[in-house]
Amino acid sequence: MFDLIEDNIHRFKKIVFVTGAGISQESGIPTFRGKDGLWRNHDAMRLATIDAFYDNPKLVWEWYNERRENIFQAHPNAGHKAIAELEKYAEVVVLTQNIDGLHQKSGSSRVLELHGSIVKIKCSVCDYKEEIFREISKLPPLCKCGNVLRPDVVWFGELLPQEVWKNAINFANNCDLMIIVGTSLVVSPVNTLPIYAKQNNATLVEINPEHTVMSENMDIIIRNTSAESIPKLVSLFKNKS
Ligand code: APR
Repeated sequence: MFDLIEDNIHRFKKIVFVTGAGISQESGIPTFRGKDGLWRNHDAMRLATIDAFYDNPKLVWEWYNERRENIFQAHPNAGHKAIAELEKYAEVVVLTQNIDGLHQKSGSSRVLELHGSIVKIKCSVCDYKEEIFREISKLPPLCKCGNVLRPDVVWFGELLPQEVWKNAINFANNCDLMIIVGTSLVVSPVNTLPIYAKQNNATLVEINPEHTVMSENMDIIIRNTSAESIPKLVSLFKNKS
């Protein structure tokens, strides 16, 4: 599989990574689906929708606080770091569904957070937004306007931040290599990004130890973890430069 990439490496100037929870699994952050996935033991509809939040903001915040704690302790792994290193050899953009900030921590300079960020918080009513890096002790936190603050993440049924999404489509439309890492590709609209890339005749690579709903549409499949595979892939670019 790596030889197919190596043979075409001269064509790959604009590279887009589409990443999901799996890329941070080797940093100790659980995925959502699959064997040890969060949605196995937690009901997404009680924790990740606006209705759930209005119904029980404290419960939703307790869950996010636990995730904040886990994420704040996590470090980028070899997969994140290799993507950052690839910027030395090609034009790289990361379109991520992750809210953990690990791509930015590893040094990637162009990261579009499609589902928001765990450190960002916004008012559920007014325009107030802020970034909080410490533990939030009183739950749910309140805005100065008196209403409840919520995590600035995209919940089920919500629109993606529209400017970010427009830019993501643009990058997908113009890339010549799209590397799809650690995502089950079951969540829309992010799972349409490979289709945009294909319209530009981009090569699609999937890095995932498991089969996904779009595996059949991939040009190259690497059935291994991201921390194992991405450094190998990046070394091909390094050796050719
Ligand atoms: N390396 C690469 N891939 C991995 C690894 C690993 N070490 N471990 C697991 N995976 C793969 C799994 O096989 C699975 O296909 O990562 C994928 C994780 O899929 P999901 O848990 O569905 O995560 P994701 O696709 O990011 O979910 C999308 O769903 O609930 C929401 O908002 C949440 O952004 C999230 C969205």
